[in-house]
Amino acid sequence: MIRNVNLAKINLPLNLAALAGFIVTFNQELTGEALHEWFGLALGTTLFVHFLLHGTWIVNVTKKFLKPLPGKLRLSYFLSFALLLAFGFLVSSGILISDLFDLGHVLNFNEDMTDTWSEMHESAANLCLVLVGLHLALQWKWIFTNLKRCFPQAQR
Ligand code: HEM
Ligand code: HEM
Repeated sequence: MIRNVNLAKINLPLNLAALAGFIVTFNQELTGEALHEWFGLALGTTLFVHFLLHGTWIVNVTKKFLKPLPGKLRLSYFLSFALLLAFGFLVSSGILISDLFDLGHVLNFNEDMTDTWSEMHESAANLCLVLVGLHLALQWKWIFTNLKRCFPQAQR
């Protein structure tokens, strides 16, 4: 949990970086495999920081969980953990098949095993795409408010 910092000022650039990072990393052919591995690791770290920055929110919802809460809040709460697990698996499977860490060699992976993990990595990326879409749809109010702040002239 992070206290005594202006979270609003950190969240906007961090969320933009996460979105841009996700688009670039998802389209692996844009960067090639070697750069993709570095982008994936940087995105994984950014998203973990993003999760920690919402630690207070997670703790507060957890404390109130047995009381009546709006359905949207509960959905957002479950989605956050689904995102944490799905991205955790995505980054771990990426590390497992990467040339950078060369773990396949250490763990004696044969071609079939590497193919299976590559397919699981790809499926995890597709699942993350769906979850990120849902996550952003639930955050539309925050996105809309900040877009209006970024482009005030468009409102006149
Ligand atoms: C490309 C990926 C992602 C993008 C672009 C993104 C973007 C956003 C945005 C715009 C918000 C609302 C503004 C804010 O409070 O900062 C938000 C909130 C949040 N995000 Fe993400 N996020 C992403 C991935 C994740 C992941 C992987 C997790 C979990 C590990 C996560 C957990 C949360 C939580 C807990 C909140 C607060 C929920 C709320 O206030 O209703 N996000 N995110
Ligand atoms: C966290 C965000 C990530 C996303 C969204 C992502 C997404 C993808 C996608 C869509 C592919 C193409 C699959 C295909 O068409 O065969 C791919 C391939 C690959 N990714 Fe990731 N990835 C991520 C993280 C990582 C990380 C952290 C690493 C390693 C450090 C990694 C290593 C690889 C490798 C080695 C391939 C090539 C697999 C093959 O050609 O069979 N990825 N990734």
